[in-house]
Amino acid sequence: MSSAADNRIVYVQGRFCPLGAAKIPIMDRGFLFGDGIYEVTAVLDGKLIDNEPHLARLDRSLREIGIRNPLDIAGWTKLQHELMTRNALREGLIYIEVTRGVWEREFTCPPDIEPTVVMFTQAKPFRDNPLAKTGAAVITLPDLRWARRDIKSVALLAQVLAKQAAKAAGVAETWMVEDGLVTEGASSTAFIITKDRKIVTRPLSTAVLPGITRQTVMRLAGERGLQLEERAFSVAEALAAEEAFFTSASTVAMPVVTVDGQPVGNGKPGPLVQELRRLYFEAVDAMT
Ligand code: PDD
Repeated sequence: MSSAADNRIVYVQGRFCPLGAAKIPIMDRGFLFGDGIYEVTAVLDGKLIDNEPHLARLDRSLREIGIRNPLDIAGWTKLQHELMTRNALREGLIYIEVTRGVWEREFTCPPDIEPTVVMFTQAKPFRDNPLAKTGAAVITLPDLRWARRDIKSVALLAQVLAKQAAKAAGVAETWMVEDGLVTEGASSTAFIITKDRKIVTRPLSTAVLPGITRQTVMRLAGERGLQLEERAFSVAEALAAEEAFFTSASTVAMPVVTVDGQPVGNGKPGPLVQELRRLYFEAVDAMT
């Protein structure tokens, strides 16, 4: 939680200001209805990682719910750099939120109200994440979310409940299950690696968020000559797999060592996911 000692500079409605001075009207539709979109880009060694696809996904999410994108890619990138500089952020995350704007609490509002824009940084070391060494445990729960999970909506109640359940169980992530098949993690994309070394993850559809890290890790796996299979898998298949992992901007490729308390493979981080993780950081190092 932020405190008086938290001297982060944030961006709110066209202005940079200290976190403690940032204000949003209570009639903001993001607050009242969850009527907004967000995006999270990782920063490593002061570089924005996969930023263009993140901003393209932001644009798509906004378009899908009819909110005007207030900035173009260059405009967003400029603000992100400014925030990084003002907060001396070398490693962590940049959060962007755009809501439909401020209006009397009615379900509808005029189409031309001014979107609200909020951005802030979170310092977080994730190159040397200790969890990557031990591997993550996950639990599974029914997927309670709505039908348009391809939109990065700020309405995250189902994910909050899934994450709280993970925390209560002492594990890192919840894999959500629908019709007997894993959809994705509460804040990550789910993968398994089968005994015959195929990397399996759900195809993109309205059932899952199109993960940007998913895309990068699949490209790296393809370049490395690994076989990819886009299909849904069950919890039983995950338990019978050689390896399992999840991806997100903040966790990169994270080995999964147990599902619902049962070991995956030998119950240790698998060699292929560790290699994918290494390839990811190599690609970051090669970025200018
Ligand atoms: N979560 N699936 C869901 C439901 C997510 O919330 C996320 C990201 C992902 C992975 O997407 P990406 O690789 O583009 O980060 C998949 C972010 C990090 C969050 O909510 O904080």
